[in-house]
Amino acid sequence: MSYNVAIDGPAGAGKSTIAKAVAKKLNLIYVDTGAMYRAMALFMLRSGVDLQDTDKIIEKCKEADITIRYEDGVQVVFLNGENVNAFLRTEEVGNGASAISPLPEVRRKLVELQHKLAAESDCIMDGRDIGTCVLPNAQTKIYLTASSEVRAKRRYDELTAKGEKCDLRKIQADIEERDYRDMHREISPLKQAEDAVLVDTSDMSVDEVIEKIISLCMKR
Ligand code: DC
Repeated sequence: MSYNVAIDGPAGAGKSTIAKAVAKKLNLIYVDTGAMYRAMALFMLRSGVDLQDTDKIIEKCKEADITIRYEDGVQVVFLNGENVNAFLRTEEVGNGASAISPLPEVRRKLVELQHKLAAESDCIMDGRDIGTCVLPNAQTKIYLTASSEVRAKRRYDELTAKGEKCDLRKIQADIEERDYRDMHREISPLKQAEDAVLVDTSDMSVDEVIEKIISLCMKR
């Protein structure tokens, strides 16, 4: 049986940074499930589908073939055969992913892919519902969070470092809106699994968080 680590938490908690580093240290595959929802949102946006039009999304999602490959340890997402990694990290696509992710038809398709990856390899998988729904039997479960102020500031620093102009208050408002949507949807809402360990990173450095997660993995 493969060894699976589940990391869930709200947007901007640092899940992907931490999961990538832990994957490298423990020789696990890093599975970024948010990227799968983002690829589906990209498909809808490119197809001109109104993200409020549930029937259209359900119909259209049958045409999206999303697959994952690993190139030099990096997850590459293919959408109908095209490598779309470069298009996934925008705010528009992230908000789109949050908007379409409540639909069971979308989730079923992507969860199937996640199950396959987790069964095939020792992995660390991050998302919103990994410990609660996707991998309820994961050997290690972590709920990674930080205050919305801290998460907004991290995002602001990231964008500013890239030379992008942005408004800290607007970023925080967007983060809080996304949290609300992800936590209050009917299917697979974001919540801490009963057997997950809560790690609040508000006052921790990246290295401290990595060390903490590795020690939790070692304990299993
Ligand atoms: O982690 P992220 O920001 O890349 O995720 C984008 C959106 O996708 C997130 O706001 C909600 C959705 N998502 C989800 O519903 N379930 C997951 N396992 C991962 C992401």
